[in-house]
Amino acid sequence: MSIDLSPIHNFLRCETPEAWLTAAVKQQPLLLIDHANCEKKAASTAINLIYRHVENFELLNKMSRLAREELRHFEQVIAFMRKRGIEYEQISAARYAAELRKGVRTHEPGKLVDTLIVGAIIEARSCERFACLAPLLDKELGDFYLSLLKSESRHFMDYLGLAEKAAGEDISARVDFFLEKEKQLIQMEDEEFRFHSGPPGHAS
Ligand SMILES: [Fe+2]
Ligand SMILES: [Fe+2]
Repeated sequence: MSIDLSPIHNFLRCETPEAWLTAAVKQQPLLLIDHANCEKKAASTAINLIYRHVENFELLNKMSRLAREELRHFEQVIAFMRKRGIEYEQISAARYAAELRKGVRTHEPGKLVDTLIVGAIIEARSCERFACLAPLLDKELGDFYLSLLKSESRHFMDYLGLAEKAAGEDISARVDFFLEKEKQLIQMEDEEFRFHSGPPGHAS
């Protein structure tokens, strides 16, 4: 089950900091709760696009499949939580996606292009994190995380391809803009530990 993660590593501007990985291993119940939330959010983002862009059949197909896969992942994560006796509490969302989305333009087609670029970045980061977390976890959870790499890396490619097509022009300047922002969010200390948080700050 080897999958080539070089497109993901070449795309992202930084690796997950060691301090985040150490925190994740120590807070596995929180990691799983926030992971469940991320899968649920990923599905609803895709469904929102299905409502807003009925003119784009390629987008409709890819987002429909993506939403089904994310909900399947959600079911798998909650099955783990149940098995491990982890209570599903309501927790606040990470700053990560909200901060990235602040940069999304408000008028079409820029809004769609930017939303798709942000989607690609979130999928790429999730994939990168699953891969570096897997060897640090117990075999059962580690194998589950490795099993997610294939679909998450395809989601990354799907989002990026759709963004290029929706723009109809070179999108590298927008991609650069969001990747720089993402790098800051990944490297800057964070008050709260979440699946997409930065390294723990003094408060955590
Ligand atoms: Fe997923
Ligand atoms: Fe995904």
